[in-house]
Amino acid sequence: MVRRFSIAAPESAKAILGERLKFPSGKYAQNRFLKAALTEMLSVFDHSNPKVNGVPTQEILNVYDKWGNGKFGLVLTGNVQVSPVHLEAPGNAMIFKEGETPARREAYTKWAQTIKQDGALAVVQLSHGGRQTPITVNTTPFSASDVKLEKEVRFLGFGKPIPLTVEQIKTEVIDRFVYAAKYAYETGFDGVQLHGAHGYLLAQFTSPTTNKRTDRYGGSIANRQRIILEIYEAIRKEIPASTGFLVGLKTNSVEFQSEGTTADDAVEMCKAYEKIGFDFVELSGGTYEQLAFQHIRDSTRQREAFFLEFAEKIRPVFKNTVVYLTGGFRTVNAMVDAVKTGATQGIGLGRPITAEPDLPKKILEGSVPSAIHDALDQNNFAVSLLASNTQMEQMGRNSFKEANQNVSYGLSDFSDEETVKRFGKAIEDFIELTRVQASKGVAIPAVITFEGVNV
Ligand SMILES: Cc1cc2nc3c(=O)[nH]c(=O)nc-3n(C[C@H](O)[C@H](O)[C@H](O)COP(=O)(O)O)c2cc1C
Repeated sequence: MVRRFSIAAPESAKAILGERLKFPSGKYAQNRFLKAALTEMLSVFDHSNPKVNGVPTQEILNVYDKWGNGKFGLVLTGNVQVSPVHLEAPGNAMIFKEGETPARREAYTKWAQTIKQDGALAVVQLSHGGRQTPITVNTTPFSASDVKLEKEVRFLGFGKPIPLTVEQIKTEVIDRFVYAAKYAYETGFDGVQLHGAHGYLLAQFTSPTTNKRTDRYGGSIANRQRIILEIYEAIRKEIPASTGFLVGLKTNSVEFQSEGTTADDAVEMCKAYEKIGFDFVELSGGTYEQLAFQHIRDSTRQREAFFLEFAEKIRPVFKNTVVYLTGGFRTVNAMVDAVKTGATQGIGLGRPITAEPDLPKKILEGSVPSAIHDALDQNNFAVSLLASNTQMEQMGRNSFKEANQNVSYGLSDFSDEETVKRFGKAIEDFIELTRVQASKGVAIPAVITFEGVNV
């Protein structure tokens, strides 16, 4: 038996969380649940043959075969990179013009179909790693300015970035996002989400920590967010809103770091996102330098969502654009409360849905009051990230059908103390492997192969 939070779900849960959401360009999400972007790191990665890099594999299709039967309103892919040399991690899925092949198109077409099985909208999260690209992939990545990320991730640092010229902003960023958006449209996805949060390239432009430019892409808030608005307009030139194709954005509500984006900045930026016509904005926070997927302030602990107080400040800006809030939701009670108080319209879920891929379905059926209450260290995002990636690898081992239509088949139950203890040992082994590989200059995907107790 899995352990859950013991707060009862309110009577109104089904009616409130099961409500449809209408987007400005016309499509509906069948309910308020969003499967947040979770990097899978399960795509082809071959240093010697970059053309095949980032082709989604059968494992990815298997993972989404489970979520495609979980009754989400909208399912985001993990971050899909628009540049083959700017990644979040080896094994990322990618869409880029130099890598155009029938096999890639077929894989994306199947990916969209798999997601949409039980009525969810399928949306690709598009990203560019910028200065957060692993040094093994690129020693001189592009960024807004030459501010290096002074941090090591899995024993490897980051290269000093090269500021993009104005011309390169067009050719290396805007054109690549447009190419990938068109690709998503042609392969049957319902939309794209630009990844403008967590310190990746677009956030490197919006954040004063990393944007030191003095041209029209730096300085004022309007200048710092210009690149995002230009990408939006360029996509809409190719795929107008009348097609119903969604264009959304994930943005930081706050960055919690020196000179970082503040909630006041976020309010200003969101006014422009509403005005230009984004279909949805997902509010998040933090960067690689200052991770924020835990309670940094005590004031939100009771209400669960990490960025709730910032969402409440930003929310009134939006009239047409649909707002999702992601990060920290664990009980149905808190989800309903966040909708009722008007802090958000949609509920984004990340780690809880690798533990339980059909959590929305169970909530809407009224069979569970909360997510699984795992026994992992809640203040250690690195551990819970590895746990989620481990569960995604487990989801990827078989299709929904092969798993006897049990989306939780073979998943580790991290609410079980013994499993967590065993996983701790697997993490130690993984860290040692990562250290050895890093000393050889090789970055490996953060995916642990681990056998768990079935849920
Ligand atoms: C394994 C893992 C992978 C993630 N990958 C992405 C990603 O590709 N893109 C993104 O925007 N956020 C990513 N995130 C952040 C999540 O989308 C989400 O914002 C965060 O986990 C907080 O939500 P939660 O508390 O429900 O997990 C990732 C988080 C985890 C745990």
